[in-house]
Amino acid sequence: MSKPFNPKDHFFKKAKEKGFRARSVFKLEELQQRFHLLKRGQKVVDLGCAPGSFLQFAAKIIGPEGRIIGFDIKPVADFHNPLIKTFVASVLEDDIVTVVTQELGVADSIVSDIAPNTSGIGELDHGRSIELNRAIIEISKKTLRPHGDLLLKVFDGGTFPNFIKEAKVLFKEVKVVKPEASRSRSREVYVLCKGFKSNN
Ligand SMILES: C[S@@+](CC[C@H](N)C(=O)[O-])C[C@H]1O[C@@H](n2cnc3c(N)ncnc32)[C@H](O)[C@@H]1O
Repeated sequence: MSKPFNPKDHFFKKAKEKGFRARSVFKLEELQQRFHLLKRGQKVVDLGCAPGSFLQFAAKIIGPEGRIIGFDIKPVADFHNPLIKTFVASVLEDDIVTVVTQELGVADSIVSDIAPNTSGIGELDHGRSIELNRAIIEISKKTLRPHGDLLLKVFDGGTFPNFIKEAKVLFKEVKVVKPEASRSRSREVYVLCKGFKSNN
């Protein structure tokens, strides 16, 4: 049986202690340790970035030669860090491609931990998550450099195998991963898409 939901679990407390804005940071940290997604000097985009723990973590990895821009429907409190810039925008409605192109040219990596408002109805939440992630794939097709990488979070469900098939057409390697900090009762999984095939 899965453990009862505890919003202030070990990862929540650890994030607070270390000055990160959300427990999600430990999912990115684990994925980074295992798959070396982000690299020093990279230009990175974070889609669905609020409150900003991925931005905090990524900024440390890319260092002073890198740049990171984040987008969310919610505003993100300022980091007072010139490497990080955020915009209030929806991946479903706004022209994020133009902003990324103006700010970065092309992105080396795109990360996303985007999540819809959940209803608790598994297939409904899955459908909303897939809709958001399809929009992210469309943005990535226009902003990611050739051989660039994309990290997605998806709520698993009936159309997930099809979604993965579509991602495999666009990327050389596609892996599905469940990090330790991801609650076992949650349907969320991360999809690591490596090596963008820009000719699609
Ligand atoms: C789990 S949180 C992201 C946490 C973030 N990775 C961090 O480390 O702080 C998911 C985010 O997706 C955002 N989101 C949901 N729908 C969106 C949309 N249409 N466009 C942009 N962001 C969206 C939510 O507002 C929420 O802040």
